[in-house]
Amino acid sequence: MADLKIAPSILTADFGRLGAQVEEAEAAGVDLIHLDIMDGTFVPNISFGPSIVAAVRRATTLELDVHLMVEEPERYVEAFAEAGADYLTVHVEATRHPHRAVQLIRELGKKPGLVLNPGTPLSALEPMLEDVDMALLMSVNPGFGGQSYVPGTTARLQKLRELRDALNPSCLLEIDGGVKANNIAMIHQAGADVVVVGSALYNQNPVKENLAALHKEIYASGHR
Ligand code: DX5
Ligand code: ZN
Repeated sequence: MADLKIAPSILTADFGRLGAQVEEAEAAGVDLIHLDIMDGTFVPNISFGPSIVAAVRRATTLELDVHLMVEEPERYVEAFAEAGADYLTVHVEATRHPHRAVQLIRELGKKPGLVLNPGTPLSALEPMLEDVDMALLMSVNPGFGGQSYVPGTTARLQKLRELRDALNPSCLLEIDGGVKANNIAMIHQAGADVVVVGSALYNQNPVKENLAALHKEIYASGHR
């Protein structure tokens, strides 16, 4: 099994049969489930809330990676922790007190993560890197699935890996947005431990087929 973890983003799944889509992904062999929470203010889109996270919690035994694209996320971390989130990642751009949000998530017994948009310098994350279990680099501007990978993310990931190796070797590095069969090996090689995949997993083809195509690219690159 590749050591690159693949987390399907259910944003592009068929919400009319969400449970089945989650079960399909788990059966295909994904590693965790990524849930994109959007409030229509921090990002120009609205997705879903804690009740959907709780429904997904009931549909799978996999860890839930909850990505809060929400203004002042500290207002909601407790509700999403209650709903069954395992990882709770918040945007440094979305709150005046990102470190306090990390502390709150830790106090709730969950795994805190911080997220940077493509335009936010790594220096915004560095002071808190040792306090998180996950660092997520957005490789698209947040709000929608199906966008193209921002090429500059690769160099940022390589720099972030150096920082992580120095400050917090157990912190997972996650890339989110525009990950496809034609770039997943490159992203893994640059240092990603986890990749979020939405539209390249949930589309007109079965998830199993799409996942196999992604795994094939990782193995072909010689990286496990
Ligand atoms: C975008 C979300 C991503 C997105 C990924 O704001 O954070 O998780 O759903 O979808 P794809 O893989 O299609 O870019
Ligand atoms: Zn996401």
